[in-house]
Amino acid sequence: MDLHQHYPGLQDLKQGAKRRLPKFVWEYLDSGTGAEAAKARNRTALDRIGFEPSILHGPMEVDLSTRLFGQPRPLPFGIAPVGMSGLVWPDAEGHLARSAAGAGIPFCLSTVASQSPEDLAPHIGDDAWFQLYPPKDESIRKDLLQRIRAAGFKTLVLTVDVPVASRRERQVRSGLTQPPKLTPRLLAQVALRPAWALASAKRGMPHMRTLDKYISGDQSGLPPHAHIGYLLRTSPSWDYVQWLRDNWEGPFVIKGVLRAEDAPKLESIGVDALWISNHAGRQFDGAPASIEALPRIRAATTLPLIFDSGIEGGLDILRAFALGADFAMLGRAYHFALAALGPNGPDHLTDMIKRDLEANMGQLGAADLAALPQPMMHPI
Ligand SMILES: Cc1cc2nc3c(=O)[nH]c(=O)nc-3n(C[C@H](O)[C@H](O)[C@H](O)COP(=O)(O)O)c2cc1C
Repeated sequence: MDLHQHYPGLQDLKQGAKRRLPKFVWEYLDSGTGAEAAKARNRTALDRIGFEPSILHGPMEVDLSTRLFGQPRPLPFGIAPVGMSGLVWPDAEGHLARSAAGAGIPFCLSTVASQSPEDLAPHIGDDAWFQLYPPKDESIRKDLLQRIRAAGFKTLVLTVDVPVASRRERQVRSGLTQPPKLTPRLLAQVALRPAWALASAKRGMPHMRTLDKYISGDQSGLPPHAHIGYLLRTSPSWDYVQWLRDNWEGPFVIKGVLRAEDAPKLESIGVDALWISNHAGRQFDGAPASIEALPRIRAATTLPLIFDSGIEGGLDILRAFALGADFAMLGRAYHFALAALGPNGPDHLTDMIKRDLEANMGQLGAADLAALPQPMMHPI
């Protein structure tokens, strides 16, 4: 089957995912928090950014390569960390890691993924990143860093936009509990999605395997919207960032930066890049769209800026680069691809985004990412 014929755009993958996923998994993946205004704002703010197309520039070859952490990269984007990806498709993290390694793009494993760094070690390429939810206990912290290093992860990402648990009301309404338990209500949802049920039956309900080693005793005190990771987590401080900087030799990234004044402080601690993100609107509904925060942060630092939240195609990546981003990451999109197409999904999405970048750069007469024209703002 020609996937580009049947699934030409992300919307096709999203619809395919919605058709194949049980309701509680769809709600987990697609929801934001509160009234989901921040999620909508990401889309609206991206759509406002336009460019005047170039004409009469003759034929041109487009070069999509870029550099990050001193390394050349064939493509300007990668796969963002998503907790419990195994709910979306069995062995999700394995499929994503192998696809990323094949395409030469980074894959970032979440602390609360359904597979551990050790599970993934045989499948990652030489550009795997690990996203840390910050363990409170120093001995657990040191042990986890040691495990990540031993498994071959080179880049450490500290997520700082989850100081407290998010409420994610839509997810709660769907009946999803933490840890996920197949209640009769969820089983009824599964029965309507036979492809997912068959694929998932072999593996059973996923859990946060990285944390197995540290979890003991009773977790019954957890609020219903929290998850087991919260038992181990703290709300990190500036000292915590400094501690990690002193204890991690490779590239160190702070994820979830939206305030310009935080950028110079992080730069002075010696972090290697800032990741501009509002967590896809899943944490704080009053947050600015990530793309709105980007120019202010660009003006405040010379550090490389990684951008995410709401990217749905190549044009969104160009919008972010035109406003100062140095790299882009996609979270939900790769999971829509997995849910719609199983193991073939991630490769297809990478190719789709690549073609979309090339088509849009052709319209702009930009032979490479450094040659993007100044963007303009469409009226609201
Ligand atoms: C279902 C889901 C789970 C997520 N889990 C994590 C996580 O464990 N750690 C983290 O730093 N970010 C997490 N994120 C946020 C993503 O890393 C990323 O910032 C966001 O998804 C990017 O926006 P996009 O999905 O519109 O591409 C999650 C996002 C989704 C949709």
